[in-house]
Amino acid sequence: MIDMQSTAAMPRARASSETVLRTRDLVKRYGERPAVNGLNLDVRRGEIFGFLGPNGAGKTTTIRMALGLITPTSGSVEILGQDVVVHRDKVLPRVGALIEQPALHLYMSGRDNLRAVGAILGGVSNQRIEEVLSLVGLAARQKDRVRTYSLGMKQRLGVAIALLNDPDLLVLDEPANGLDPAGIVEMRDLLRQLAAQGKTVFISSHVLAEVQQICTRVAIINLGRLVTESTVEGLTRGHGEFIVRVENPTAALAQIQRQPWGAQAKLDGDGVIHTAAPNGQGRYLTRFLVEAGFYPDQITYQEESLEDVFLRLTNGSNGEVR
Ligand SMILES: Nc1ncnc2c1ncn2[C@@H]1O[C@H](COP(=O)(O)OP(=O)(O)OP(=O)(O)O)[C@@H](O)[C@H]1O
Ligand SMILES: [Mg+2]
Repeated sequence: MIDMQSTAAMPRARASSETVLRTRDLVKRYGERPAVNGLNLDVRRGEIFGFLGPNGAGKTTTIRMALGLITPTSGSVEILGQDVVVHRDKVLPRVGALIEQPALHLYMSGRDNLRAVGAILGGVSNQRIEEVLSLVGLAARQKDRVRTYSLGMKQRLGVAIALLNDPDLLVLDEPANGLDPAGIVEMRDLLRQLAAQGKTVFISSHVLAEVQQICTRVAIINLGRLVTESTVEGLTRGHGEFIVRVENPTAALAQIQRQPWGAQAKLDGDGVIHTAAPNGQGRYLTRFLVEAGFYPDQITYQEESLEDVFLRLTNGSNGEVR
């Protein structure tokens, strides 16, 4: 369903240490309730940064603060080293954004929508309009009314609008929302292309699987707080389990569970043991079993799926997810 072969190698190679988007102790309260609660993020130039969290986690609220659309209760957002509240007029021209659905004129053509936004922004040439149309793959349909566009085409037109002013930072809030698998792949290819051109892309989603293939790094938030910030690989590392097939699983399990590393071991419905290993290494698990008199038929290591990682990190009770 989802293309696996291409990688984010190009944007990764371009990522540098310059921080493009930084939040510090960012808080937004609505009444007593914090929607964002002390968030610290650092997004570096050239990254495709995934901003992940379940519904209501605070993603859109964070993005609205980053774009100067709402004011933080406390803390700060800096874009390219400048405070967004203090230097709003200087900073915002360097950012392109698509928040949830783009606001489009359905009875106008795609090109005329771009012209209309271009007129508001000022300084957008016809050539730039042609450029963004071909970049998002809408050149052939530019004269058709937007109401005849598929959802995926509308989302891409939204990205085209965000790109008009040739921003350094592109902020996309759930750009794949409502897209079918083919639309998601199209969007992903487009974002890869943009990152390859040196843009920094900040993309929010509540579906880890949707962004994990293109993101260089991800932050997961829940209840307004950062749960983890990591490479995708770093999220799964060390959280897998060993799968052990052995002739007498109940007896073997009892031995394993007596060990400090094996206290969490379990038997599944197929009589297969799921366990950690001494020092996290399969060969020590094998040695332990053999020394205990069990000769395993098979020991394999199974990585935790990203979906499981996401659920494990975000399903904590009342926000104390760590
Ligand atoms: N204007 C507002 N007034 C009151 N509460 C709000 C307001 N905007 C957001 N909230 C609350 O803040 C929390 C975070 O909402 P936010 O829209 O940022 O979440 P999200 O991560 O974008 O979720 P989703 O995945 O559903 O888009 C929610 O509990 C929401 O109800
Ligand atoms: Mg949202």
